[in-house]
Amino acid sequence: MLRSHNCEELRLTDAGNTVTLCGWVQRRRDFGGMSFIDLRDRYGITQLSFNEDYNVELLNEARSVSREFVVKITGEVTERSNKNPNLATGDIEIVVNTLEVLNPSLTPPFTIEDDTDGGEELRLKYRYLDIRRNPVKEKLLIRHAANKSIRNFLNGSDFVEVETPYLIKSTPEGARDFVVPSRLNEDQFYALPQSPQTFKQLLMVSGLDRYYQVVKCFRDEDFRSDRQPEFTQIDCEMTFVEQSDILGLFEKMVRNLFAESVDYDLGDIPVLTYADAIKTYGSDKPDMRFDMTFKYLTDVAKGYNFGIFDNAESIIAVNASGAASLTRKQIDAITNYVKRPQVGAKGLIYCRVNEDGSLKSSVDKFFDQEALAKWVESCNAKPGDLIFVMSGDLAETQKQMNDLRLHLGDLLDLRTKDTYKACWVVDFPLLEWDDETGRYHAMHHPFTSPKQEDFDLIETDPKNVRANAYDMAINGMEVGGGSIRIHDKELQQKMFDLLGFTKEKAKAQFGFLMNAFEYGAPPHGGIAFGFDRLCAILTGTESIRDVIAFPKNNMGRDIMIDAPSPISKEQRDELGL
Ligand code: AMO
Repeated sequence: MLRSHNCEELRLTDAGNTVTLCGWVQRRRDFGGMSFIDLRDRYGITQLSFNEDYNVELLNEARSVSREFVVKITGEVTERSNKNPNLATGDIEIVVNTLEVLNPSLTPPFTIEDDTDGGEELRLKYRYLDIRRNPVKEKLLIRHAANKSIRNFLNGSDFVEVETPYLIKSTPEGARDFVVPSRLNEDQFYALPQSPQTFKQLLMVSGLDRYYQVVKCFRDEDFRSDRQPEFTQIDCEMTFVEQSDILGLFEKMVRNLFAESVDYDLGDIPVLTYADAIKTYGSDKPDMRFDMTFKYLTDVAKGYNFGIFDNAESIIAVNASGAASLTRKQIDAITNYVKRPQVGAKGLIYCRVNEDGSLKSSVDKFFDQEALAKWVESCNAKPGDLIFVMSGDLAETQKQMNDLRLHLGDLLDLRTKDTYKACWVVDFPLLEWDDETGRYHAMHHPFTSPKQEDFDLIETDPKNVRANAYDMAINGMEVGGGSIRIHDKELQQKMFDLLGFTKEKAKAQFGFLMNAFEYGAPPHGGIAFGFDRLCAILTGTESIRDVIAFPKNNMGRDIMIDAPSPISKEQRDELGL
């Protein structure tokens, strides 16, 4: 090693020792006859001191180095007169004997400080410099710890890591594929996997019993803060299991992950059915950090000549506990929030429960105190609470109320970053109707098995068939999903029929899987976690971009290496494009 210690290691007990350190110049401070340099590496910062009384030449050399120069120094560990309690090495400094510049640096385009002056695009362009900053570096270190925790858990539970190919044929995960032209097979393309779904199922047919892979997946989707075109899954599959086995095991994995990487006890993870999640939270990934569950006023608020309610399929309320003090202006702002096209509500009605128990609503013209008291009772509201109500088509209103609930959670500070609450959502519908194509799509994927008790509905009432499919959500973000698979060829064929695959199309796309199912496919199921999303939650950041070393921007571009980019005519010709 070029150094004897790193920049975080030295303490008062090392005083008197001669040491060699290497690192980057964080900053230099010059005073009359002395200079100080903060030397930084991945581990921390150590102060270097230069004094004209000791060595004037060395002092001049020190004054020629600037921010981000890479230097190597040798010197003596000395007790500091002016100690810095905020620094692990703050009791000492190095009185430098020799200074060698290993490499100079241009002035960085933004300051390498925790609070930098660099904008997002600039920092992405110089991502390698951004990673020198503590907030970025620490996220990558937590990601590493999380990766280690998950691998240790799975390795210790008999899972075998198997790598599956990246150059494959399209997987039916529902997003668009990235395709790669084949030079040797003219006019033919590989697809990059949206997930290793079919391969992991084949590995179960192979008898590997428990598989996992920390694996890159590729989806050509539109940008969102919780999506990247390439992202990482913790992909798992198990043989001879039922849903409860999977929920049990992976609950342990996730609890272990939170305990080991952020020292947090997630507690038991509640299981909600999809139907209940929608009914209570209007979302299949409810944020369980706060209550504010939906209350249905459909039975108690109709019949008061208030046309909007009387004509509505459903009337839904939430009780914002303790929010009666919100001003009219604040309530107007909330109303405007739900009226934005992204939410699409027509309006918002409120009822304030005053401290003296009297009720004041925005529809007092129609509802007297007695009528409003029914709302209060349904919502279990107390003096000091504020009830918000929306009405309309059931599914639409549930969705809008979910937006409102999350918005109120933000406004009332109920969605705190250092609290984590997970839930399982189970019994998803097997199919969803697509108006555009006029047919059913698999909500999860075509290999998901229907619930046995709903088998009969497959022919008669497909939209009400529930699947053996489950998701995990944490703090309102979907972090994982999976299902018990179909292992029966006949049932698989039925599914393909339902999904509108002709025999030929099914054979062309999944013939390999259907063939494999003829050779003793065991019952199996699995799950995949979005590793970037887990890391974003663990590090308290909004965007998964922050936990990816070299992410893409919102146009799917890597602006550091400038990709995607055109290719030469020769390359195109060679590929037959
Ligand atoms: P699914 O499509 O639900 O399931 O994906 C699993 C998890 O991956 C994460 N995820 C993403 N993360 C970042 N960027 C994206 N573009 C992105 N898309 C998905 C989510 C999601 O919960 N093969 C099945 C799993 C299985 O059935 O075992 C699958 O891929 O956190």
